[in-house]
Amino acid sequence: MGLELAYTSEVARATAPLYARVAAVIPEIEWPVHAPLIAEINRLKRERDAVILGHNYMTPEIFHCVSDFVGDSLALAREAARTDASVIVQAGVHFMAETSKILSPQKIVLIPDAKAGCSLAASITGADVRLLRQSHPGLPVVTYVNTSAEVKAESDICCTSGNAVKVVERIAKDFGTDTVLMLPDQYLARNVAAQTGIKVITWEGACEVHERFTAEEIRAYRTAHPGVTVLAHPECPPEVVAEADFSGSTAGMINYVGQHRPARVVMVTECSMSDNVAVEYPDVEFVRPCNLCPHMKRITLKGILHSLQTMTTKVELDPVMSARAKVAIDRMLAIT
Ligand code: 13P
Ligand code: SF4
Repeated sequence: MGLELAYTSEVARATAPLYARVAAVIPEIEWPVHAPLIAEINRLKRERDAVILGHNYMTPEIFHCVSDFVGDSLALAREAARTDASVIVQAGVHFMAETSKILSPQKIVLIPDAKAGCSLAASITGADVRLLRQSHPGLPVVTYVNTSAEVKAESDICCTSGNAVKVVERIAKDFGTDTVLMLPDQYLARNVAAQTGIKVITWEGACEVHERFTAEEIRAYRTAHPGVTVLAHPECPPEVVAEADFSGSTAGMINYVGQHRPARVVMVTECSMSDNVAVEYPDVEFVRPCNLCPHMKRITLKGILHSLQTMTTKVELDPVMSARAKVAIDRMLAIT
């Protein structure tokens, strides 16, 4: 870090309103480390005509202090398709950056750490999808957005956790079938099957963050924190979702808190969610057992700054494969 990135009184003054926003979740002692990076990122992104798309699992200093747009996978995809900035910096994992590039192929899409993967995306390849199609001819293939561009290219339609029910119902109707291939998240697929009555043939993929939660753990939160409202992500096993008061995407959970203002809530998901939402709702008590996503946590302020300084790492995709993947994403966006 150069001298110009010191925590000067000018940086302190310029970033004071941002600190006031996150003071409840970032200790004061940490601010002199974050503030110079934040000030420089916000300056440089204007110079580069860049927009930072931050997923709900980003740490609060990224989520609240440098992101231009925040949301769940669906909202970030929509924003990537409509932004008129020349550069997109994806503060999220690699499949999200690929989705942005698929939707905005003419733009520069940067991922601050190209190793920010996902256990779901790593669980399946395009060749696997082709083999599945051969063994289930005629069935529609719905793939979760948490997959590589290559897998999306082999799909009829994509879905996110925010629209999976709607997508599966619609594609089953369009194909005139009561069975769909839903890949690669076995738990999301089973949760959607339970909600829709549509049969799913799935894959053995799982989110390494959400598969660790257990129904027993949820019952223990209820005993330890009487009256607590339990919100669970649909990547959790069905028996965990069954114990929850509500299940929805990260944005769905945030909206639930905003609308219902529970006195106490536990978000059965990645750790940064509670911090980010607590900033908006100081009247809600957040019970905080959670699991960290090591992939999301590879994205840091330092990494974002480096990305903007060096314009790396650029996401590049084969244009033919990317165009095929876009068909599946566009089909999803059109119906939700
Ligand atoms: P959503 O934000 O779409 O709910 O996705 C959660 C997730 O695990 C992303 O990796
Ligand atoms: Fe993948 Fe789960 Fe991490 Fe999301 S939280 S990036 S689904 S491993």
